[in-house]
Amino acid sequence: MNAISTFIEHLPKAELHLHIEGTLEPGPMFEMAARNGVELPYASIDELEAAYDFGDLDDFLGLYYRGMSVLVRERDFYDLTWAYLQKARRQTVLHAEIFFDPQAHTGRGVAFSTVIDGIHRALLDGEEKLGVSAKLIMCFLRHLEEDDAMQTLDQALAYKDRIAAVGLDSSELGHPPGKFKAVFARARAEGFLAVAHAGEEGPAEYVWEALDILRVVRIDHGIRSLDDARLTRRLADTRLPLTLCPLSNLRLGVVKDMPSHPLREMMQKNLLVTVNSDDPAYFGGYLNENYRAVQEALGLTVKQLHALARNSFLASFLGAPSRQALIARLDDYVARRAPSLGDAGTIR
Ligand code: ADE
Ligand code: ZN
Repeated sequence: MNAISTFIEHLPKAELHLHIEGTLEPGPMFEMAARNGVELPYASIDELEAAYDFGDLDDFLGLYYRGMSVLVRERDFYDLTWAYLQKARRQTVLHAEIFFDPQAHTGRGVAFSTVIDGIHRALLDGEEKLGVSAKLIMCFLRHLEEDDAMQTLDQALAYKDRIAAVGLDSSELGHPPGKFKAVFARARAEGFLAVAHAGEEGPAEYVWEALDILRVVRIDHGIRSLDDARLTRRLADTRLPLTLCPLSNLRLGVVKDMPSHPLREMMQKNLLVTVNSDDPAYFGGYLNENYRAVQEALGLTVKQLHALARNSFLASFLGAPSRQALIARLDDYVARRAPSLGDAGTIR
């Protein structure tokens, strides 16, 4: 491993865009299928992995929903979440804000309580045994109707103390944020924060809707924002965070190659951007692989990596004291490690 790779490995950071169902690795998928008597349409792990060649977002979502059908019991949701938290700890992820998709489970007969109990129990263990703090974001599936989301919100009210925010994910094109105006208004009135996927495959107009109709405090993806100069200025002026997912964008054909990823241009335009992994089991890497991919393709400096990690804490839902403590830990790490990496903290 080269020096910058090692620097990234130990860089204290937060992950803010991670679908827990997207961390289901092929091995555990087959094990859970066997123990739950669920049939998968693949004869082997190799055959499954060969199908991970996605044309676009919908193409991926088909596999993603089929894969998660092996999650049936509370223990499955616990094991899935625990495995991710262990991985996060190894990658120096000190805090994670984790999406889950309850409708993708309740829609096939798994109780809401089974899902949230398993995930929540693992989060408690993660905090206690691994020192990784976490918050949960409940996503509504945008390809379903708003009524369905409203019923899901009803179920979530009993678990308000375990869920920090609501989000919006799944198939974007043809499902603008405005479709979910009422359920987001109600969720916010009930005290949930709001985020939404917008501007991943969909246009900059969807980012405007997420901001002005859903009143989100963070945009997930949002890479199409640069198509609109007025939107770009608004995001810069308000420093409203965006959670970018570089390897996901590459694998889903949202960018043509990594050197064309807009992350660096967004930083130069003063947007508050963060690096995240989205669905790491499907897209070829967890958080550090995402940092490494953009560092290499875009020639990011140590100073820029430091800014990205700082942004991850600034954009989090942590209270000010915890956020400041983690930023202090980050600054201390960079002060100790950066000098050995070259003049003025640049790599090249
Ligand atoms: N669900 C899981 N990953 C997603 C993504 N990248 N976009 C929209 N919905 C998702
Ligand atoms: Zn996502």
